[in-house]
Amino acid sequence: MKPIEEYVTSIPDFPEEGIIFRDVTSVLQDADGLHLAVDLMQEKLEGIDFDVVVGPESRGFIFGVPIAYNLRKPFIPVRKKGKLPRETVSIEYELEYGTASIEMHRDSIKPGEKVVIIDDLMATGGTTEAIVKLVEGLGGEVVKIVFLMELAGLKGRDRLGDYDLDSVIIYP
Ligand code: PRP
Ligand code: ADE
Repeated sequence: MKPIEEYVTSIPDFPEEGIIFRDVTSVLQDADGLHLAVDLMQEKLEGIDFDVVVGPESRGFIFGVPIAYNLRKPFIPVRKKGKLPRETVSIEYELEYGTASIEMHRDSIKPGEKVVIIDDLMATGGTTEAIVKLVEGLGGEVVKIVFLMELAGLKGRDRLGDYDLDSVIIYP
């Protein structure tokens, strides 16, 4: 099997000039790439005691669900505004390009629950910071954050300095 880095295709100037898009679909469309990505992300959770996996729409679902399933934990989706049918908590935040608003169901995290956040990629860290605020607002404790890819140059770690954060691939 190839190293995980070799499954990722990088596309310059997508979706805007100056952005190098790290395309997770090139990992997913290869059976070995998908398997390796899930396994390597899941390895980052070894020794971590936690209750639930939280992942954001849409790419966070791709890795959050198989990891939650493998470890027999619940999966809590974080969705873009207006998609969740029951009572929600929501927050607005900035992306590497543009802004967004995300929501979770108010009853999805119980006070005191230990939460792992899973996503495909950290760019500015804005999405993850917003999720942390939602989780903590519901009384949850973020015990680990795992990404497949991290764009270190955008300094997302600086926003999330107090948290245990791990990425499988780190781009400069
Ligand atoms: C992407 C990616 C992360 C986020 C990272 O999702 O999957 O969730 O951006 O950026 P940040 O660290 O600057 O917040 P996006 O909001 O594009 O949605 P998608 O998964 O539906 O494509
Ligand atoms: N989400 C935000 N920035 C991204 C990038 N450079 N590549 C892939 N997904 C992203």
